[in-house]
Amino acid sequence: MSPGTSVVAVTRMLPGGAVERLRQEPAIAELRVSPHDRPLARAELLEQVRGCRAVVAQLVDRIDDALLDAAGPQLELVANVAVGLDNVDLQACARRGVRVSNTPGVLTETTADLAFALLLAVSRRVVEADAFVRAGKWGAWAPSLLLGADVHGRTLGVVGLGRIGQAVARRARAFGMPLLYAGPREVPAAAALGATYLPLDELLARADVVSLHCPLSSATQRLLDARRLRLLRPTALLVNTARGALIDEAALVVALRERWFAGAGLDVFADEPRVPQGLLDLPHVVLLPHLGSATAETRGAMANLAADNVLDLVQGKPLRTAVAPPGR
Ligand code: GLV
Repeated sequence: MSPGTSVVAVTRMLPGGAVERLRQEPAIAELRVSPHDRPLARAELLEQVRGCRAVVAQLVDRIDDALLDAAGPQLELVANVAVGLDNVDLQACARRGVRVSNTPGVLTETTADLAFALLLAVSRRVVEADAFVRAGKWGAWAPSLLLGADVHGRTLGVVGLGRIGQAVARRARAFGMPLLYAGPREVPAAAALGATYLPLDELLARADVVSLHCPLSSATQRLLDARRLRLLRPTALLVNTARGALIDEAALVVALRERWFAGAGLDVFADEPRVPQGLLDLPHVVLLPHLGSATAETRGAMANLAADNVLDLVQGKPLRTAVAPPGR
């Protein structure tokens, strides 16, 4: 397609000046930005992408055969404003020669901060204690009031020692936490972190805190099923800032209700924004609405990185964070 004729769809208003940067690009003839402060309904989304050369998508937008068909043969790029790609059918994109980009790197430290916030909150019962004070229940200081578990010195098991897992591990080192990790293979960076590689089942049985940092795929869906949840120690805590479907959520509700292990900090759920009532009922679970990368700076950086990839495309440059097609 010649310069000046590209149509670009942005499925949700982007922060950090990213939309303005796309607007100023002469090669973009039409920029369709959703006017809504909500995810587009499926029919609206299919209409919005029609005839586009690039789509800037959010993790709630399902990019599948139907959407690619609706977009049509001009579509060349899906720029996902997320590091996770489980909303994108990479095979379907590859079949049509549609390239995909994501936003690695810029959200690593922010997501690790939130994982650690959950770890601290659930260990020291921060949310429960805050509710206790607000409810006027604090009659007097008491030596056994709201006792939590130490964080320092407890063993952290990181499942998936990629960028975010390593950033969590660095924080854990500062807290004097011995480190274990599991994943499809050993990671060279583990040595400098002092992290010991273990099979997943063994890690689950040995760690005091387990934190999930692996991508969701057909290989990792329900990675923590009922059998594996039963391996956790009775005093263990589970933190998930990756994807909800990594855990069998029905089994998780039972496990937490029956105290197979001590508690959980969850930022992600299998069917967001639906949070099972069984989790809402439990005081030893801290629940967040998928906030891993949710700071103004980081969301702005993610939006701008997605915009950079679109600008790369329309300016005929290599995409800066292209995702390798499946099988490569
Ligand atoms: C957030 O969950 C992301 O994948 O960027």
